[in-house]
Amino acid sequence: MLAIIGGSGLTTLSTLAVAHREIVRTPYGEPSAPLLFGQIAGGDVVFLARHGHGHTIPPHRVNYRANLSALKSRGAHAVVAVASVGGIRGHLPGDLVLPHQLVDYTYDRQHTFFDGGDRRVVHADFTHPYTPSLRAACLDAASKAGVAVGDGGVYAAVQGPRLETAAEIDRLDRDGATMVGMTGMPEAALARELDLPYASICVVVNHAAGRGDSTQAIAMEALVRTLESGMDKVRRLLEHLVPLVPPPVAAALGGGAP
Ligand code: HPA
Repeated sequence: MLAIIGGSGLTTLSTLAVAHREIVRTPYGEPSAPLLFGQIAGGDVVFLARHGHGHTIPPHRVNYRANLSALKSRGAHAVVAVASVGGIRGHLPGDLVLPHQLVDYTYDRQHTFFDGGDRRVVHADFTHPYTPSLRAACLDAASKAGVAVGDGGVYAAVQGPRLETAAEIDRLDRDGATMVGMTGMPEAALARELDLPYASICVVVNHAAGRGDSTQAIAMEALVRTLESGMDKVRRLLEHLVPLVPPPVAAALGGGAP
């Protein structure tokens, strides 16, 4: 079963025929929202609203461990995470992008399942943070849906919830980041620790601070409009993705090795 984690602008999925919902408790606490089980285009899906159904949980307070643990325990075989980002270089507002790499600038988040205690020490390989075969399925789905998607980009995961200074964006640019968002980590790493194939569909909703039309400030009204139209494209893409990732294929996708 494919898990879809929806971010800002995607707290519900109108294309999902919900069969049942479940409040899950995990050893790490409760996930952001009840899990919604149902079908999209005839395929089984579980959906989770990352920020809660009322969009009340800020990025640094999301219980990422509970979210991933709940999805895995209820039978998810792969995770597609939808997130909004600011474009630093090469991505314009309105674009959809599938990042292929990330740099983590977050702090003070519960970022691992291997946290000592009586558990053995594990260093998960994270050379390629986004599962190549699942990314390929997303690209295939996008082309079938007629939705343009950028293939590749470097996601800078920042702490938030404030947006960045122009100088911070310059630094991320020098570090090689091409987009910036607040939720990509530790989500991707926790999925890897659970051996869940993981890919992210990013919707560029604004020029990052100091870039393009965000030289003076980031205009929130335009951002919200771009978010809504971007998520419509994501819903179309997902309808084509679900049939491409049936459980046996998802299981065979494996972890992150290219
Ligand atoms: N910065 C960080 N996170 C974001 C942005 C941004 O400009 N836009 C959407 N999420």
